[in-house]
Amino acid sequence: MATPDFSDRLLSLGLARVSEAAAIACADFVGRGDEKAADQAAVDGMRRQLNMLDIQGVVVIGEGERDEAPMLYIGEEVGTGNGPAVDIALDPLEGTTLTARDMPNALAVVAMAPRGTLLHAPDVYMEKLAVGPGFKRGVVTLAMSPAERVSALASAKGVSTRDVTVCILDRERHEAMIAEVRSTGAKVRLITDGDVAGVMHCAEPSTGIDMYMGSGGAPEGVLAAAALKCMGGQIYGKLLFRNDDERGRAQKAGITNLERVYTRDDLVTGDVIFAATGVTDGSLLPGIRRTPDAITVETVLMRSKTGSVRRMSYTNPVR
Ligand code: FBP
Repeated sequence: MATPDFSDRLLSLGLARVSEAAAIACADFVGRGDEKAADQAAVDGMRRQLNMLDIQGVVVIGEGERDEAPMLYIGEEVGTGNGPAVDIALDPLEGTTLTARDMPNALAVVAMAPRGTLLHAPDVYMEKLAVGPGFKRGVVTLAMSPAERVSALASAKGVSTRDVTVCILDRERHEAMIAEVRSTGAKVRLITDGDVAGVMHCAEPSTGIDMYMGSGGAPEGVLAAAALKCMGGQIYGKLLFRNDDERGRAQKAGITNLERVYTRDDLVTGDVIFAATGVTDGSLLPGIRRTPDAITVETVLMRSKTGSVRRMSYTNPVR
């Protein structure tokens, strides 16, 4: 029997349930200081819901290699097995520390695309650079220095470099980059974790962020590319390797050119659906709301084919 087509319209509402389930499952763990318990709850919640979808899914971006992660590991088959063959990229809790400390912008995120269209990114770092929609392709590039990127983006916007805001993960490894960006007069918005949200900020004008740069997880780079493919905007990513073990992980994932600079459409080569549910309050989504009787979460669900963005609130009674 032929495999059914990837009907992104029909599948999308199911995908929203998947990120909702992950967020709701960790409601009891927000601000309680236990990152592991929060993550485990989100993984369990997401996996249960994912396995109810009529798909032949394979996790390509997941919780880790099979020997490291018992659930939602890379290569795990998910779904009922009835339906289209799809790739799944997921992070049941993007921002485990943010959740444990009740800090902004922790999200449950998941993306789905036809089989073979999401990069199988190994669990290494990726150098990332992203801007929102409306700029010509290559307005900023990884080959430019941080200061050159700020100048190029300011010119493209027709503003002074002082009017540019760059989001960067607050890490020692980024100290020189942060200083160079500030030397142009641009502002830096430092985040302590959560660079999927960091990248998405560029495509959401209300955040005031124009550009994202710096290194973070490569799997998060694929998820961010999926989000930007729906929202509009550009992202460039280059895998970073610290040792032979990391190079081996890339080779195992089928990557032969270790120096390649990936564009958004190299990271996600076809149509994609992306869902994110807020766990803690943030600039993209409100966090989980809990009353004695119910839990409410908000989800953004997007499809790259149409560019449609749907925001949904979901309340689940506590029984
Ligand atoms: P977790 O949710 O797995 O804790 O990841 C959070 C995160 O901040 C990612 O958003 C980011 O890509 C990565 O960690 C950065 O890694 P590091 O903390 O090693 O700089």
